[in-house]
Amino acid sequence: MNASQIRQAFFDFFEKKGHKIVPSAPMVVKNDPTLMFTNAGMNQFKAFFLGETEPKNTRVANSQKCLRVSGKHNDLEEVGLDTYHHTMFEMLGNWSFGDYFKEEAIGYAWELLTEVYQLPKDRLYITVFEGDKSDNLPADEEAASMWKKHISEDRVLYCSKKDNFWEMGETGPCGPCSEIHVDLRTDEERKKQDGKALVNADHPQVIEIWNLVFIQFNRKSDNSLVNLPARHVDTGMGFERLCMAMQGKLSNYDTDVFTTLIDVISKKAKIAYGQNESQDIAMRVMADHIRATAFAIADGQLPSNVKAGYVIRRILRRAIRYAYSYLDIKEPVMYALVPILCKQFAGVFPELEKQEELVSKVVFEEEQSFLRTLTAGIQRFNQYVEGNKSSDIVDGEFAFELFDTFGFPLDLTALMAREIGKGIDQVGFDMAMAEQKNRSRKATEMKTGDWVELIPAKNPPVFVGYDNLEVKTRLLKYRKVEVKKKEQFQLVLEQTPFYPEGGGQVGDKGTLIFGSETLKVIDTKKENDLIIHYANKFPTDPEAEVTAVIDAEKRQLSASNHSATHILHAALKQVLGDHVNQKGSLVNDKYLRFDFSHFSKITEEELAEIESIVNTKIRENIILDERRSVPIAEAKAMGAMALFGEKYGDNVRMITFDPQFSVELCGGTHVKATGEIGVFKITVETSVAAGIRRIEAVTGPQAQELLFSRYQMIEELGGLLKSPSDPIKGANQLLARLKAVEKELEQAIKSQAGDEKETLKGKITQVNGVNVLIAETSVNDAGAVKDLAFELKEEVDNLYLVLGYKAGEKAMLTVMISDILVNEKGLHAGNIVRDIAKNIQGGGGGQPFFATAGGKNPDGIQAALEQAMTFVK
Ligand code: SER
Repeated sequence: MNASQIRQAFFDFFEKKGHKIVPSAPMVVKNDPTLMFTNAGMNQFKAFFLGETEPKNTRVANSQKCLRVSGKHNDLEEVGLDTYHHTMFEMLGNWSFGDYFKEEAIGYAWELLTEVYQLPKDRLYITVFEGDKSDNLPADEEAASMWKKHISEDRVLYCSKKDNFWEMGETGPCGPCSEIHVDLRTDEERKKQDGKALVNADHPQVIEIWNLVFIQFNRKSDNSLVNLPARHVDTGMGFERLCMAMQGKLSNYDTDVFTTLIDVISKKAKIAYGQNESQDIAMRVMADHIRATAFAIADGQLPSNVKAGYVIRRILRRAIRYAYSYLDIKEPVMYALVPILCKQFAGVFPELEKQEELVSKVVFEEEQSFLRTLTAGIQRFNQYVEGNKSSDIVDGEFAFELFDTFGFPLDLTALMAREIGKGIDQVGFDMAMAEQKNRSRKATEMKTGDWVELIPAKNPPVFVGYDNLEVKTRLLKYRKVEVKKKEQFQLVLEQTPFYPEGGGQVGDKGTLIFGSETLKVIDTKKENDLIIHYANKFPTDPEAEVTAVIDAEKRQLSASNHSATHILHAALKQVLGDHVNQKGSLVNDKYLRFDFSHFSKITEEELAEIESIVNTKIRENIILDERRSVPIAEAKAMGAMALFGEKYGDNVRMITFDPQFSVELCGGTHVKATGEIGVFKITVETSVAAGIRRIEAVTGPQAQELLFSRYQMIEELGGLLKSPSDPIKGANQLLARLKAVEKELEQAIKSQAGDEKETLKGKITQVNGVNVLIAETSVNDAGAVKDLAFELKEEVDNLYLVLGYKAGEKAMLTVMISDILVNEKGLHAGNIVRDIAKNIQGGGGGQPFFATAGGKNPDGIQAALEQAMTFVK
């Protein structure tokens, strides 16, 4: 079977067993502060396990895009070095939400592997949880005895909590698990050594392929376990590993999931794969990391310098650096792998193919800029080496500086050091790294307490804020958090009018009134399905009835900006084209910001057209058509714009302003008719990243304020320019007059200089056969005097010219000497001017034939001129 047949067989099998096949959640996680990226198929179902939400289907299956590069599950450093770990991988999973449990989960897994996929039973091993004293948990004898119905007893192994108790993170749903391992070694090797001994021993051919987790506990922040309201199944099978087992390969990279990528990389590097271990590692790193990067970008996470964006940037840089160091690739190449991935996953994860141009562009720009950084880092390294010739060791702190500022991982620095016969101070590097981690941990330290439940609830809190700005309700649960040593409270209400931050729109602010006590809500956010109100105080009587009231004015302004964002989005598509896709937005009570894919600067004309369309739609006063629960397929058929990287349920909320114009899937709050927006004005158009542009705009009161104040400014200008009805005409007239006056002035100076030239010529005297002209002139412009001097030099032979003049408060001197006098008599204008300038308390200099000086004493001009005569005498 090829990879897609293997994937399809999984879906078909579980569909037959009554499972609904669901889409992969985006790989980039929103609304869960404990997680940056989806690290397991079960993430998107966390609320079902915790009993916070009731699922529609109790049996589902899918292939989930996972990324294990941070937090509890982080395989990054292994990737490439071995042949079976990945940053991004597909996890095939089947789930039971309070439906079947161990018996069926085990039975299904066995049937699929041995009957559908026909993996040989004598190559399979099973592990079960051996129990754990610290958690007070017994061995999972139940699972063991169920397995023994399918497989011989000696193939069932008991293993520790590390391998056989699965947890998503430090807290959250968890439970004992059973893993299925497969032994892919040759029969000969298998005869020599029993595979049993190699299970969980990092052997590249005896590996785990499927993990069946029996979720039944919730891990609390104090590390205790509490029983969940129901028992669930969460399974995860490594798709790429399954392909290796099914296709009889010894490495994931030899399956058809990876071979096309490896081929292209090998061609680009002009190095064959499979010849040299470090070059092979580099190729594997590249093939793996382009998947992680491309899918993250397609899900909306651009590389950046903070948080999830920084993780993505580091993954891509790791690949570029391997290519640079081991394959001698010094130009962007990773971007050229994107089209291969797009094609490969077109039928599975179409979001990639749909954004091919954007993804390639972003990767290309990242590569280019990191290659520049690499060059700068290498220069810095060479400088360091030059200054530390006597040492055999590259200092750990310096290696850390390269890591921190230039993104050089230690092994790159070590490699460069090795090339010039030096070692590296690993301990110093580790210490510098630990210190930095400690600093950043302290800066972001946040302690989150467990939820304290006041009223047991089966369903998540209800948002009633589309229809109500105020509601009487009760406190469901709360927890205390400590942010930078300051206490804060997070409150969950049974019902709430508070909109939690989402879809770019900020969370509502407002008040919670418990009896006579009023609490300020400073922000509202969503965490999975919970709507959380942030307060700095805790109510004295938390069980009292509470009136939750939002700040209506702020909400109205945010709603205006949100609706304007939809209209802007539609206008952008209309003016710029269909490639425009939302890549981020911010909507608050002051303005809106909209990021979208587009590959060139937007022209003035396009901007004007966009503004005009939006304002026309506002004036049309289009009535909002809000449908709260439309089946997703129906919504898409009606042309609703869904966003990449967003998770949608089976039923979605659809916001329409004219079905021919703007139809979006959206959870935000909106105006009842577009007229409420009032007016729309773009304030900023700029680029935020490769292929992504940003527009900022204001609406309603803010737009009015902006436009009116500009209008006022124009009025004042009109007054100043004495052209109230048309200040631009006034300004142009003024500029034209200024130009004419400048020209006249230039002419006047010229003719004055012409007259002066004739006058000066009359003052020439003969001294020792030299035509001497020493005089004070009325021309007072340095440029004009210079021109005058050059003209006189042209017209008078054997000339020794010294002119003095006053320019404002200053005294100026100019000396010009014919070349023949310079050459034959050794006169030097520069030296002369320096000497005579002392009379005017100044200095100057220049060439032998022409020099000038300036000074602050105009009364000394005469003395200077007299002294000038001495040189020619
Ligand atoms: N959650 C388990 C894992 O990630 C099984 O899906 O391994």
